[in-house]
Amino acid sequence: MLHKLDRRLAIAPMMDRTDRHYRYFMRLISRRVLLYTEMLTTGAILHGNRERLLGYSEIEHPLALQLGGSDPEQLAVCARIAADLGYDEVNLNIGCPSDRVQSARFGACLMAESALVAACIARMRQQVNIPVTVKTRTGIDQHDSYADLVEFVRTVNTAGCDTFIIHARKAWLQGLSPKENRDIPPLQYATVYQLKRDFPGLHISINGGFTTLEQIQSQYAMVDGVMIGRAAYHDSYLLADVDAKIFGDHRTKPTRQDILDGFISYAKENIVRGACLKHMARHILGLYQGHAGARAFRRHLSEHAHKPGAGIEILIRAGMLAQIVEKNIHAQKNISAIPVHPDMHS
Ligand SMILES: Cc1cc2nc3c(=O)[nH]c(=O)nc-3n(C[C@H](O)[C@H](O)[C@H](O)COP(=O)(O)O)c2cc1C
Repeated sequence: MLHKLDRRLAIAPMMDRTDRHYRYFMRLISRRVLLYTEMLTTGAILHGNRERLLGYSEIEHPLALQLGGSDPEQLAVCARIAADLGYDEVNLNIGCPSDRVQSARFGACLMAESALVAACIARMRQQVNIPVTVKTRTGIDQHDSYADLVEFVRTVNTAGCDTFIIHARKAWLQGLSPKENRDIPPLQYATVYQLKRDFPGLHISINGGFTTLEQIQSQYAMVDGVMIGRAAYHDSYLLADVDAKIFGDHRTKPTRQDILDGFISYAKENIVRGACLKHMARHILGLYQGHAGARAFRRHLSEHAHKPGAGIEILIRAGMLAQIVEKNIHAQKNISAIPVHPDMHS
């Protein structure tokens, strides 16, 4: 039976970022945010090491697998594998503009091939009961009118996809790198709002450029959900308030130290199983962002976590350094706030 996922806020799929270590870390910060894997190609899943690519911790639910591909049969098999492994959603990437992805005929270039995308969705839906969703852009190259976007959404919806996550900018398939394609084409939030007005029955999530909780909250008057990528990665504690403020879940908010402690236990177990600290520690550099101890925390991890044999003591010490800096600054503030008695000057 289809179960309804709460999509009010999701962390975007990000290659080389949203691996299982990062997702575990995010789950220590928010119990409710919807998590996505990195994009995995059908080829990698069908021919690669499935445990390494698709393994996850139970705590990561709700969890969506993002697929890259354009062969309906292969996508259907991968969707089945995802559902069997317990993923809560399968998402098809129609937004990645990289050359490699284009030459394999998937990602953003498929915005110009709505019939093929519809065929992919239809086959995937035949295979699974979990939601099959699409993450896309507002357009590509010259194929970027609102009418083009409507045609794409309508065609894909006809195949049974009723959830669209729209990165609110177009992609240029030639001339811009994937990174530039995340910054240079201007954000077009109004296009996404219009799409929601024109397709009120669809779930429309907006993505691109959100960095504060206030900005995110302001979106719910226009769209159903928000997806955030870079801000969640670089300033992870931003997510600490979302359970209460967005999902209405008022269980205790974790402190940075609570999160670090949880991650230390996780890292300890993984190191015993042969994982390297550096592969885990790199995702938590942003934990103290905006906090007085952020630099000390980041520096300690960057300097020590990659060393052979590095263990959880590096994480413990990084946390202690962050706390010491914070306490010193606090103490200095308190000292400077003490009124100086005139006699003390003599
Ligand atoms: C390092 C990096 C890797 C990304 N990899 C993917 C990916 O695998 N699949 C995808 O759909 N989008 C990917 N994206 C795009 C993000 O999902 C998101 O659409 C984009 O960053 C805009 O959102 P933001 O402004 O909140 O970061 C990636 C973005 C970054 C920064």
